[in-house]
Amino acid sequence: ENTEDKLLMKISCQDNPPSDKITVVGVGSVGVAVAFAIVSQNISNNIVLVDADQKRLCGERLDLQQGSTFKGNYKIEACTDYTKTACSKVCVITAGVRQKPEESRLKLVQRNADIMKEMIPKLVKYSPDTTLLLVTNPVDVMSYVSWKISGLPNNKVFGSGTHLDSSRFRFFLSEKFGVSPCQCHGYIVGEHGDSSVALWSSVNVAGVRLRELNPKAGTDEDDEKWADIHKKVVRGAYEVIKLKGYTSWAIGLTAASIVNSILRRAPHCQTVSINAKGLYGISEDLYLSLPALINSNGISHVVKKNLDCEEQDKLMKSAKTLEEIQKSVKI
Ligand code: NAI
Ligand code: LAC
Repeated sequence: ENTEDKLLMKISCQDNPPSDKITVVGVGSVGVAVAFAIVSQNISNNIVLVDADQKRLCGERLDLQQGSTFKGNYKIEACTDYTKTACSKVCVITAGVRQKPEESRLKLVQRNADIMKEMIPKLVKYSPDTTLLLVTNPVDVMSYVSWKISGLPNNKVFGSGTHLDSSRFRFFLSEKFGVSPCQCHGYIVGEHGDSSVALWSSVNVAGVRLRELNPKAGTDEDDEKWADIHKKVVRGAYEVIKLKGYTSWAIGLTAASIVNSILRRAPHCQTVSINAKGLYGISEDLYLSLPALINSNGISHVVKKNLDCEEQDKLMKSAKTLEEIQKSVKI
């Protein structure tokens, strides 16, 4: 095994030709933030919006269209019946119910699974080669449900997962050090939710490993209490929901960055919710977040990180939590 093979496990080979049509299903707070992040960053200028609420859909479409003067004429279409979604490169799924203050994401599971059952077959009918990017919560279970229903290969069905939690982690690290979040590297894996796992053993700032400076960082024996940063990550969404009722901008940018990796073939390592069977000690078809590379064909590789015993243990606990919910959902 050469060094590249030690780092990366191949998931798929094909790298598909470009097409930039992006469907966003659900034009609530999250869907609109995703669409806005995509067009405002020139990731795609070809967006189709879908929602069951015709009035809201028309309003959001018009509002986005009326700003196109400042971004060079992007195309925004909208429909309730999925016809205009045909041949989408990526379908970002944000439709569904959201948490009330202090409600766990896991409480939404069956209500949102029922919505996936209705919508996924329609999306796949019109775009049989699409990649499905799940955002609706609980995102790990929705990714599993959508993979099952869609019949697509598992490299083409995945969720935004803990890519958002990793972003929150990097932001809080950057606040602590006064170094840009782009140069604070840290990964959150496992459930996008309360049982997520911070990989303290690989946190590094500007190339310096935190554990070289403080070998106990992130553990219970650490006097500096770095683990509190992970607690802030877990509380991140609850705090925002308490204050404004929902989260939107950070997830909008998070999902857009994943769409960017698919369209631009930019193999950034992103912690996304994938079928983890055969990876990191998981033996079942179970969706949770792991560090992965994404290309035009979806998940291309999973990065084989060395976890310490505590991290591996916590990942297994997170997997157990998700496995129970995943088993309980009626597909
Ligand atoms: P929202 O209530 O503002 O919007 C939901 C939209 O879905 C509404 O426009 C509604 O009409 C539409 N919808 C519902 N059922 C539908 C169906 N069968 N077909 C088509 N459209 C349908 O909710 P919000 O705040 O946009 O949240 C959406 C979802 O995203 C929630 O599940 C929330 O928990 C999740 N979320 C996930 C995040 C993540 O990191 N994965 C971050 C933030 C939110
Ligand atoms: C988030 C949503 C609520 O912002 O999952 O983390």
